[in-house]
Amino acid sequence: MFDILFVMIFGLSGRVLTKDTDTKGRFSSPVLDVTEKQLIIERNQTLQLNCRGRWELQWVLPSGVPKVYHGTQIKETRCGKKNNQYCSRLMLSPALAQHTGSYRCRYRQKHRKQTSVYVYITDSQRPFVKVQSEIPEVVYMKEGEPLVFPCRVTNPDAKVSLVKFPFHPIAPDYRNIIWNSKHGFTIRSPTFFYIGLFSCETIVNGVKYSNRFLTHRPVNKILDVYLNSTGLVHMLQGQMLALNCTVTAEWNARVSISWTYPQKANGSANIIRRISRSRTNMLFYSVLTIPSLSTADRGLYKCHVTSGPSKRETNATVIVYDQPFIRLKHRDGPVVQASAGQKSFRLTPKLKAFPAPEVIWLKDGMVAAEQCSRYHVDRFSLVIRDVAEEDAGIYTILTGIQQYGLFQNLTLTLVVNVKPQTGEKTVSSQQPGTVQRGSRQALHCTSHGVPPPKIQWLWHPCPPKGLSPARLA
Ligand SMILES: *[C@@H]1O[C@H](CO)[C@@H](O)[C@H](O)[C@H]1NC(C)=O
Ligand SMILES: *[C@@H]1O[C@H](CO)[C@@H](O)[C@H](O)[C@H]1NC(C)=O
Ligand SMILES: *[C@@H]1O[C@H](CO)[C@@H](O)[C@H](O)[C@H]1NC(C)=O
Ligand SMILES: *[C@@H]1O[C@H](CO)[C@@H](O)[C@H](O)[C@H]1NC(C)=O
Ligand SMILES: *[C@@H]1O[C@H](CO)[C@@H](O)[C@H](O)[C@H]1NC(C)=O
Ligand SMILES: *[C@@H]1O[C@H](CO)[C@@H](O)[C@H](O)[C@H]1NC(C)=O
Repeated sequence: MFDILFVMIFGLSGRVLTKDTDTKGRFSSPVLDVTEKQLIIERNQTLQLNCRGRWELQWVLPSGVPKVYHGTQIKETRCGKKNNQYCSRLMLSPALAQHTGSYRCRYRQKHRKQTSVYVYITDSQRPFVKVQSEIPEVVYMKEGEPLVFPCRVTNPDAKVSLVKFPFHPIAPDYRNIIWNSKHGFTIRSPTFFYIGLFSCETIVNGVKYSNRFLTHRPVNKILDVYLNSTGLVHMLQGQMLALNCTVTAEWNARVSISWTYPQKANGSANIIRRISRSRTNMLFYSVLTIPSLSTADRGLYKCHVTSGPSKRETNATVIVYDQPFIRLKHRDGPVVQASAGQKSFRLTPKLKAFPAPEVIWLKDGMVAAEQCSRYHVDRFSLVIRDVAEEDAGIYTILTGIQQYGLFQNLTLTLVVNVKPQTGEKTVSSQQPGTVQRGSRQALHCTSHGVPPPKIQWLWHPCPPKGLSPARLA
């Protein structure tokens, strides 16, 4: 008896279990009581939708239904044979044309699990879901994306045409130009033709209704950003700093230029902006001026450029000297050495100065560049081409900043080393010759070099007769 009861309970629970898995499959998404994809009701009627599911439910209504609307009623109950389901009834009364749209029922915790129905609420006085205001609606075009004129209608059978201002009807071709009563007109690949003023038009009972749109193509392409001084900018205290940031952008682009600079908090700079157009581009200038620099103005100056999501920047580092100066020193002592025959040699003392000084090189008291065509001044160095012995001497660099009465001189001595040379005829003797044994002979050797070469004599005894030099070696 106990055994039978046990089996019965067991069997019962087993059945409940299988039924449960059944419902799991059935209500993976909530279920609406309407099976059609769309409903058509008239204005002032009541819209009633019932939804059932396994978990708590939630409605998502078209944007035309105000969040707080006295006509909206939602009634939630537990339902199902075992009360283990959730039911929700939506009532909208009176339903109005602007409530046309997709009504969705979804699980509160699992938004992706949803079921929807599209409801048209017809109103002969309101064929478009949105009523046109004075100002046309702006529609943004994006590169590579379709363009949509969202003139949804309240009646799926409405005959709507698209017109480009002032009068250019555009017929749907269902390839590029598509009409859909739930979305409006879609242009799959819009061209420049679609920039302008457009309207969706329909005639109901002899009355023309329209929805107007202004298409706008935001342009955000920054082609180039140029600061007229970059890297290090050397300036003197009291001087005027002017930096010109020039931005080249696509036609119609809107660009904003801003600066960051050391004394920004004090607002010590004046900023002037200018826009000009060329045939192909837009040019935007922003000129930052600091009329009288102080040492506090030294540092990084950045020009930031933005156009929509595009960003670019460029910078310059400004160095401010409190006074003009010349610092001139030897690099490797007062005496420098070169070698005769060297392709080139550069005399470069250490020179730091601001502003840039004038430089003159003297050789032995005369202007170097005028003395020899092999001398030339490169920036402030003296370059000697094809170094020769006669280049040795005393060199003086004269530097000066006339404007500020600053002058400095520096003297260097150049020593030109010459490799010792013994010419063919430099050893004097009658060669080959025989002299008498015991006689006195003088041998002369002449050689030249800088520094003076040391001369060393070597004596090689003649090989005995009969032996070839090769064997001796
Ligand atoms: C809807 O109701 C309003 C006000 O109650 C009325 O003026 C209008 O004529 C009605 N419209 C329709 C289509 O019944
Ligand atoms: C800035 O520089 C551009 C050229 O790079 C020039 O055309 C423009 O006139 C300059 N702006 C000012 C205010 O000097
Ligand atoms: C940069 O532009 C400004 C304004 O046009 C000008 O005053 C300044 O001299 C320019 N600087 C250089 C280095 O060209
Ligand atoms: C700029 O501001 C700093 C701190 O706020 C101040 O020390 C400095 O003197 C100001 N410079 C000028 C030129 O007003
Ligand atoms: C300044 O500009 C240079 C060259 O464009 C860049 O390499 C450097 O990182 C910039 N410096 C700063 C601090 O932004
Ligand atoms: C530099 O040399 C020039 C010419 O020899 C001379 O007139 C001048 O006084 C010198 N200046 C200094 C600062 O030594």
